[in-house]
Amino acid sequence: MFLVSPNFPEIAQPNIELKAFPDGDSYMRINDIDKCQGEDVVLFHRLYPKQNTAIFNTAQMLHTLKRVGSRVSLVAPYLPYARQDKTFLMGESLSAQVLCKLLADFGVSRLVTMDCHFIKKEGESDYGHLKIQNLSANRLLVERARSKVGLEQLEVISPDEGANYLVSEFGGKSMTKVRGDYDKDKGEEAYRSVQKVERAFDVKGKNILILDDMIATGGTMLKAAENVRAGGAKKVLCAATHGFFLNDSLAKLRKLSDGVFTTNSIPNEVAEVDIVPLLKKEAGIQ
Ligand code: R5P
Repeated sequence: MFLVSPNFPEIAQPNIELKAFPDGDSYMRINDIDKCQGEDVVLFHRLYPKQNTAIFNTAQMLHTLKRVGSRVSLVAPYLPYARQDKTFLMGESLSAQVLCKLLADFGVSRLVTMDCHFIKKEGESDYGHLKIQNLSANRLLVERARSKVGLEQLEVISPDEGANYLVSEFGGKSMTKVRGDYDKDKGEEAYRSVQKVERAFDVKGKNILILDDMIATGGTMLKAAENVRAGGAKKVLCAATHGFFLNDSLAKLRKLSDGVFTTNSIPNEVAEVDIVPLLKKEAGIQ
């Protein structure tokens, strides 16, 4: 049985209703709940944007499915809170574990996601009591980059060591990134800005694809692109699996590079790579 959230219409006609009560409380209804009784269910639901509401909706879906004895695999290509897998200051929440435990406790038997920040490899992993299948969009993104620069040689690099698994199969090297303390002038926003991205290899005259798991504020990708430009690269492409493009980072990246693109795990203006066939294949949908 396949269930599709209204926030994932690219998969199929949604068969879940999501609305809000007048006070803002979330309303959720699985229209075909009778068909889910005791069944294996694959649930397609995006967890971004509006991640906190999307997570609560997931809990509503899972709780409803548990009541009829379904076994649930959740397909959510971007996993929010994945970057909070380590603490920086004492007393901070390990939110990645909180979310994974919540999903496992609510009955997710397997999460299918993509380029999950804390996993750093493709395939099966266990994290916070949750079984996770981490798919990678790296090959699709590299293929897209090659179509942009023709058959000329393309070097694939990552802006930090954490994203090395995305580039290693293409012989790619990684830069190193240094983040600072939490910015003091951000008010209630918790943000540690990128101080520098350094490179210990040559890029002069080369076509470079900088590949990362995500572009959020763009701080990482902008510093990496500046570095590679300053190093004399011929063409510079910037790509990531997940694109949020917060603030005006897309405009800045466009100015600095010869092309910026992501997958459609999070819908955005430059979501040029379609991951739906990959997700459908993983879920056994033809
Ligand atoms: C962090 O290590 C990730 O791999 C990304 O590099 C990072 O989360 C991107 O965030 P931002 O665009 O805000 O620098």
